Amino acid sequence: MMKRYLSLFLLALSIGGIRPVGAQASPYTFSQDIAPLVYQHCTSCHRTGEVAPFPLTSYAEVVSHAQTIKYVTGTRYMPPWKPDPNYRHYLDENTLTDTEIAKIRTWVDGGMPQGNPALTPPVPTYPSGSQLGTPDLVIPMAHAFTHQGNGQDLYRIFVLPVNLPTDRDIAAIEFRAGNKTIVHHCIIGMDTTQQAQALDAADPGYGYTQFGGFGFNPVENIFAAWVPGMQSRFYPSGMGKRLYRHSSLLLQIHYGPNYVTQNDSSVVNIFFARQPVTRYVQTLAAISPTVLTNGPFVLPANQMKTFHAQLTVPFDLTVLSTAPHAHFLSKSWKVWAVKPNGDTIRFVKINNWDFRWQGNYRYTNLVRLPAGSRLMADATYDNTAQNPRNPFSPPQTVTWGESTTAEMLLTYFELLPYRTGDENIVLSTAPGLATTPGTVQMAVYPNPTSSATTVSFQLERPGPVTVSLLDNTGRLVRTVTREKAYPAGPQQLPLPLSGLAAGIYVVRLESDEGTRTEKLAVTQ
Ligand code: HEC
Repeated sequence: MMKRYLSLFLLALSIGGIRPVGAQASPYTFSQDIAPLVYQHCTSCHRTGEVAPFPLTSYAEVVSHAQTIKYVTGTRYMPPWKPDPNYRHYLDENTLTDTEIAKIRTWVDGGMPQGNPALTPPVPTYPSGSQLGTPDLVIPMAHAFTHQGNGQDLYRIFVLPVNLPTDRDIAAIEFRAGNKTIVHHCIIGMDTTQQAQALDAADPGYGYTQFGGFGFNPVENIFAAWVPGMQSRFYPSGMGKRLYRHSSLLLQIHYGPNYVTQNDSSVVNIFFARQPVTRYVQTLAAISPTVLTNGPFVLPANQMKTFHAQLTVPFDLTVLSTAPHAHFLSKSWKVWAVKPNGDTIRFVKINNWDFRWQGNYRYTNLVRLPAGSRLMADATYDNTAQNPRNPFSPPQTVTWGESTTAEMLLTYFELLPYRTGDENIVLSTAPGLATTPGTVQMAVYPNPTSSATTVSFQLERPGPVTVSLLDNTGRLVRTVTREKAYPAGPQQLPLPLSGLAAGIYVVRLESDEGTRTEKLAVTQ
């Protein structure tokens, strides 16, 4: 709230585009310098029908919010990416560099010149359907939920029964927000008991209101998680999760504050594994109050407190993702491990925790966590009156619990028993490989693979496509298809790999709607 008043104040100062005393004319223009930044980092949420409160899809729209943009990019409140990018990188990372932030500031202070409108890049278009292809199973909310326009956040859980003839192994789970203007994030749990049904029955209306968790401990606390801008992905070949035939998916949807009453009906897309799953990904809260070296977990009123957690890893593990979890008193997190040889593995560092922007941070490569490593976390809490999010005024002693007025200290890890070579498995395109902006979607699955794989892609409009296989230095190994015309919509292209040596390759797709590259691991 304080932030909002401050931005209004800054806005008032800037009315008429008054240049602060002493500021130089901007060497940057909207068309050539600012629009590319905004379209890459902001319009995924700041466009009509999306979660952010106003669009940033034209010069006029950006100018009318310029002072606030300068402020919220300067404080790194926007884009809302919480992990410290100087500590570790993840899939779907969305951050501005110091240079980019300075560019925005210089442009705003320098009078916000538009430049030549003809040079402005087009606003990206965003695919509305699944990003992975045609799901095998679509599980919708039973009916629409009405989120009242009362300006309040709401954490609501919906129980979606799964009815399958047999248990199924799944390769990907994709959450698709129904009403994107109110769905702020979603955590999907999975359970095989009827506990969630009982909680639903006890709460009037569809679903039940529950802050933080699910109100009990389900079989899977994080089966999947989604925040705006995050892309679902397939697990590497042979890995997956099991969906039990008589289970329920528990959707914990955070609806953001809104002043217009709105309906939402979101869906979950399930993709069954095409290859046998031999390795099940598990989600474990390895960091919890049971492993504190300075417990118990009590936060006395009017104090800052840092808890230290530590445990020794009993066997070799492979880590896919990390998700710290706390409520409003949490200030910062650092989660890391020290290997038996003394090397450090960095998992996540969050300098300014915000309950409203928590995520499940997924690594670009699988991470090996060797047996005997000491897994550690420092979690700092601010239970003073200086913490604007403190639910109590004056502050009170706070202990463990799921309610808004209680606290938590958990870090979930998606993990597997380690197997030789896991650390070479790439979950995404590595930074530095040439992809160009655009709307075309591409997925390569299975990956890693020994014999063949399939390139799935989707064009918005019909057009020519070239798909090539490169080695990891960028040298052409083979051309799969060249300038071939494809219709709009999902396509699948088999990619035979016979005769190739084991190693890391790159699949490249070039189209009028941009270039995509994805690393492909070929095994023996
Ligand atoms: C992941 C979605 C997302 C992305 C990406 C994003 N925003 Fe936002 N933005 C929001 C939401 C949601 C809000 C409303 C406030 C909130 O929920 O924190 C918001 C609020 C704002 C505000 C108003 C802040 C205030 O206090 O009034 C500004 C200005 C803003 N964003 C600018 C940007 C800019 C500039 C970028 C890109 C550099 C960006 N945002 C990227 C989701 C996003």
